[in-house]
Formats: sequence, C-alpha cells, structure tokens
Amino acid sequence: MTAPLTIRPGRAGSRIAGVGSYLPHRIVTNAEMCTMIDSSDEWIQQRTGIIERRWASDDEPLIFMVAEASRRAIEHANVSTDDIDAVIVASVTHLKATPALAPILAAELGLKDPAAYDISAACAGFCYALAQADAIIRTGGATTVLIVGAERLSDLTDKSDRSTAFLFADGAGAAIVVGSDTPGVGPVVWGSDGTQADVITQTADFRDAVPTGQMPTVYMDGKPVFRWATTFIADAASDILAQTGIEPDQLDVFIPHQANNRITDSMLRHLKLPEHIVVARTIKRFGNTSAASVPMAMVELLANGEAHSGQTALIIGFGAGLVYAGQVVVLP
Ligand SMILES: CC(C)(COP(=O)(O)OP(=O)(O)OC[C@H]1O[C@@H](n2cnc3c(N)ncnc32)[C@H](O)[C@@H]1OP(=O)(O)O)[C@@H](O)C(=O)NCCC(=O)NCCS
Repeated sequence: MTAPLTIRPGRAGSRIAGVGSYLPHRIVTNAEMCTMIDSSDEWIQQRTGIIERRWASDDEPLIFMVAEASRRAIEHANVSTDDIDAVIVASVTHLKATPALAPILAAELGLKDPAAYDISAACAGFCYALAQADAIIRTGGATTVLIVGAERLSDLTDKSDRSTAFLFADGAGAAIVVGSDTPGVGPVVWGSDGTQADVITQTADFRDAVPTGQMPTVYMDGKPVFRWATTFIADAASDILAQTGIEPDQLDVFIPHQANNRITDSMLRHLKLPEHIVVARTIKRFGNTSAASVPMAMVELLANGEAHSGQTALIIGFGAGLVYAGQVVVLP
C-alpha cells in the first residue's frame, strides 16, 4: 500500500505587508518624445493621458531597479530578510532566458536559500505573482514572499515607432506578502486568450534577431488591445468584486494596469464605481511600465496620501499573451 503523504499546513490567508518602488531618474517628456516620432504633446495626452515617462539609464540595469524596489518594500513591511523564503520576479525585459532574475535578486539582497523564480505574464505579471504568493502561503510552501514587477521596456521599444514609443516606460515595484489569519488578498480572477497572441508581440525572437545585430522590439496593434481591455477585462474586473463578495461602494481604491487613461475611464463607467473611489492615474508621469505599473501606482497613492493603509483596493493587470489577472487587496 502506498504510504500516505504528509501535507504541510499553511495559513488561512495572506496580506501585503509592505510595498516599494524604483523610478528611473531620466524623465522623457512628450516634447522630447516628439523629436523621435511624428506626434504632439496634445495628441499623446488626449489619447493616453501620458505627460512624461521614465527611461532607465545604463547605470540602472533591471537587477539594480528590482533590488532598490525590494529594499524599500522590505523596509516598509518591517520584516527581516531572514524571514523571506520565496522570491518571485515578474518581467518581460530580463533579457536572458536563464538564469532567472529572482535568484540573482535573492543573492543581491543576501537572502538565505529562498525559493526563487521568474514569471512571464507581461502587464499582468504583478497580479500573477501575488496570486502565486498567496497560494504558496496558504498551502504552506512559504511564509514570507517577496514579489516584484519590473521592466526596462525602453530596451525593447522602437523609439521611432509612433504606435508604441510614447507608451512604454521603465520602473520597478515590489511587495512583501505574509501569512494572515484575516485574508488581505482576495481570490484571483485570471485567464488568457492566446488566439490574440499576435496583437502585442516581439518583432522577432532573439535567435532571429542576433544575426541582424538589431534588438527585437515590441509590436502592438493598439485597437484590438483597447477593445479587449474595455470589454472583456472590464467584465473580469466586475467578476473580481463579485468573487470577493465586495460591492462597488465598499471599495476605496481602484488600481488598474496603467495602459491608457481612456481604458481606465471606460472601466470606471463599466464598474459603476462611486465618485469617492480613488483611481490610480500614474500613467501621467510614469507611462506604461507593464508588470511594474500596479505596484508603482500603489506605492505612489500611499506615499502622496491619496490612499491609506487598511483600505480596500481593486487591482487588475492585463496585456501581452493576452493574459490578465486581478484581485481585491487590503493596502499595507
Ligand atoms: C495606442 C493607442 C493610444 C492609439 O490610439 P488610437 O486612438 O487607437 O489611435 P489610431 O491608431 O486609431 O490613430 C488615430 C489617429 O491618430 C494618428 N496617430 C497614431 N499614432 C499617433 C501618434 N503617436 N501621434 C500622433 N498621431 C498619431 C493616426 O495616424 C490616426 O490619424 P487619422 O485619424 O488621421 O488616420 C490606443 O490604441 C491604445 O491605447 N491601445 C491600447 C494600448 C494598450 O493598452 N497597450 C498596453 C496593453 S499592456
């Protein structure tokens, strides 16, 4: 007879204990952007809400940005690095297939033997990482998880492409997730539609790009992405509230992936969120930082006093794949 396996007990739930972010120094204004593409400050602001974005410099490699954001999240959470037993990094701009960035980050932070791995879920990456952190804490796989969403999208942006150059930007956001008897992370609603894989994609895989000496870049067909985000993803956002048992008027903060202010406006109409809800609009100053956008926005709202610890926030990420994920969380 097969011996029964011992199951390690986990916690009832998890919560975000602290967050941190890293914003690259170099500001690229719409005026500077218009020296690279045929566009105007007015068009970019009207169509997307973006006023400026940050592009990382040579002295701000991805590992530096993830480590800085992580240190700030660890400090905010007031946890010991000795307690962190899992590290998950979400990024599509770590330009090496192996090794993953997470173990390198763990070593950089001096962590002791944590589980460490990367996930590739584009602009939904942070919410995917949070779903995984929550799950492994509830099933006893870890007690304290560092999750990071970070991108140097400027490395994969064609600076002369007027359909993407003004959107994409760089940055990093991190969170510490710990066990909690009162759940502070609600059920994830997530999914994918690979039949639309070609609407946001790399122009070439790295093997084909190497002989040309040209880095591949991100191609995007904006219209279908916009349509999907304002219909299917808006429904998914409603579903998150339903599955968490939260009415729109019980929510304090809405932090959608910062892809386009018009997408955010459309989601707000769809969700019928009351006026008093604080809505993240960090795209104005940060552009679209993909996996980093949700945690960077969370840090910003908490830092500028628009949102407060203990409030309830709906977060949702969506992007290339196409993939999406979101949950309701209690802010740290
Ligand atoms: C990219 C996006 C802002 C483009 O906006 P849009 O309204 O779809 O723009 P269109 O491509 O239809 O172009 C509209 C007009 O603006 C012009 N235009 C396009 N890019 C322009 C630019 N950078 N500057 C100025 N004009 C531009 C077009 O030529 C077109 O002109 P016309 O009407 O004279 O033909 C929009 O599609 C979008 O935000 N999509 C979703 C992107 C997204 O969320 N991506 C991330 C997911 S992770």
